[in-house]
Amino acid sequence: MAAATSKFQGKNWVDVGSVTESELRYFLRLATAMKEALRERRIERYRLAEARDLFAALLFYEPSTRTRFSFEIAAIRLGLKTVGFSGTEATSVKKGESLLDTVDMFDAYDMDAVILRHPLDGAAKAIAEHFTRPGRPLCCFNGGDGMNEHPTQGLLDLFTIGECCGRLHELEIGIAVDAKYGRTTHSFPVLLSLFPGNRFHVFTHPDLRMPRSVIAHLKERNVEVVEHFESGAELRAMLPKLDFLYMTRLQRERFEDDAEYYRARDMYLFTLDMMEGTKPSFGVGHPLPDNKENPAIHPSVKRHPKFWPKRQAGNGVPTRLTEMALSLGLLGADFDGQLHEPAPVDPVFYRERNPRGQKERAEALDIRPIASGTVVDHVEGNPYVIEKIARLLKLSARGNTYRMGVVEARKRPGTRKGVLMIADRFLDEDELRLIATIAPGATVNDIRDQRVARKRDLALPALIEGLQEMTCTNHRCITRPEYHEHVPPKAIRVGSGNAVKCYYCNNLMESHELF
Ligand code: NCD
Repeated sequence: MAAATSKFQGKNWVDVGSVTESELRYFLRLATAMKEALRERRIERYRLAEARDLFAALLFYEPSTRTRFSFEIAAIRLGLKTVGFSGTEATSVKKGESLLDTVDMFDAYDMDAVILRHPLDGAAKAIAEHFTRPGRPLCCFNGGDGMNEHPTQGLLDLFTIGECCGRLHELEIGIAVDAKYGRTTHSFPVLLSLFPGNRFHVFTHPDLRMPRSVIAHLKERNVEVVEHFESGAELRAMLPKLDFLYMTRLQRERFEDDAEYYRARDMYLFTLDMMEGTKPSFGVGHPLPDNKENPAIHPSVKRHPKFWPKRQAGNGVPTRLTEMALSLGLLGADFDGQLHEPAPVDPVFYRERNPRGQKERAEALDIRPIASGTVVDHVEGNPYVIEKIARLLKLSARGNTYRMGVVEARKRPGTRKGVLMIADRFLDEDELRLIATIAPGATVNDIRDQRVARKRDLALPALIEGLQEMTCTNHRCITRPEYHEHVPPKAIRVGSGNAVKCYYCNNLMESHELF
């Protein structure tokens, strides 16, 4: 029976940052009921799309067994029809078609849901951003994007941890092997951080540590992350304290060089004897697949009652069925909690200061003041930043007369700052926004008749997009020009300093690194 209206209708499950605590609690409750309905073959409780003629497109650009088939089985059980591909060999991707163009076709064919697995970081967010269809939305599901996220795996992981441990708060969770490239380890911890008192212990080779962006996200929610790099002995010592241990596969296909792989290969192997002394409700999980040559869990563990990976994978069907039913408006009518709302973007990035018509003065003898034009002052930090600004404003190319230098700040002796004076040129909003991004804290003065006519203190913009030559520093980001995917880069401010993160791939950067 289809629900009348659902607040979840059109929800994209592409990143874990956009799931709220009440959405998650509600989802887990529905997924539990869905699992029971499936077990009892109560068709009327799960075949919710019967006679609705809804379609799901499964677009798998990378190998997959579990994500691909659990989504497809869930879709069929829900009553959807499925189309799609596993591997791009027989598709026009081989002829050089971009991701957005391929998805555009499934949009033209009136699909209702797209489930995407793609090798580039941020791919799923890019399609969710691009395909906003008013009325009947195209719901996007991220089945794993590069080394970035795997949110629907995160949801089934949480569901499994809840089943195993009997709760989702005050847990000591171990994560082992590959927290760098293993995208599943970037998703479930962020979801689990919505519940109180959880702590993570990450056991990896130092080359494979959890990305700074994930740790920052967890710390923002006051969740402690303890990193261990020494040896497998640390994991053994910690086992009796753990509630759940999440093993992963070394993601060899994503390593930049194979040396990384060989260094990390032999560090962790979960063996049967390691179960001894663990808590009664302890479980060892794995998103699977494990690698048969270098397993993370020894095959002899598979029959142990605390071995969870098979049950974990099985949970992919009820959880993904629930996610699709919610997004397609087939469930969720009685939800009265807090839905995720994107934070409003503060458009202000500078503050006008009364110039009091003061006379323009030189900071140092070797920089003569200008009579008319722009003075960019108080450019802090790296001395290259001022050169970067001069280059991006195309001062030479435009034949501007300018002077620049790094001088001692008069008000703070011993500290240096960059100064740039451009004769007879005044900057527009986009140029100001560019400087605010590269050098937050700088001051821009308009000089007319040797007097400061206007003075603006710049601050880092909350949203950075549409600026020329801007690139994400993550070489695997969907926005990188070398992939020709034509997804313009976009970054958002995080915290109160100069840090920004890529809207698509979550890569953390200092704002000036965007250029
Ligand atoms: C994982 C993936 O593809 O991210 N598998 C999965 O989806 N269950 C983990 C892996 O490939 O090792």
